[in-house]
Amino acid sequence: MTTQTTDKPATMLLLTPQCAGLDDTIGQTEGPFYTPNTPERTNLREDGMAGTPLLVTGRVLNNDGSPVIGAILDFWHADNDGVYDNVGYRLRGHQFTDAEGNYRLETIVPGLYPDRTRHIHVIMQGQNTRCLTTQMYWPSEPRNLWDEIFHPSLLMQVTENGDGQVAGFDFVL
Ligand SMILES: [Fe+2]
Repeated sequence: MTTQTTDKPATMLLLTPQCAGLDDTIGQTEGPFYTPNTPERTNLREDGMAGTPLLVTGRVLNNDGSPVIGAILDFWHADNDGVYDNVGYRLRGHQFTDAEGNYRLETIVPGLYPDRTRHIHVIMQGQNTRCLTTQMYWPSEPRNLWDEIFHPSLLMQVTENGDGQVAGFDFVL
């Protein structure tokens, strides 16, 4: 076979390094638990839901550092017991970045399930960007050492805040 590049998507061109640019956020597997058509909401936490409250904030940027305005981010993750809702939309929701590229997700810290470290899934895309499917991770998580999907460039900055956690992560498309 000599046509090894013809089946690559056109978005591969965006991976060309740019002077003084930021590194692209790496893509990761969507896994088996994505559900389309999620509700639009920034708060996934529901009354009586078990789990440590978590606030995640950050920005979606182009690799020249400019904000991606109106990018869609679709988040989903397991509940406090490590279980996904594969019937409804519990702990699933999409939102759009504001005029500075900010997003804000209120939720709970996901529980653990077999063979994986702690993580949040997200799919995102701006109007003129690639579609990024990736995952976000916690530092100091013992399972990071052996999880085969984990990548250190996807670690959030996490601090304890009263009864909950506050985390930050910026994406570069
Ligand atoms: Fe997962």
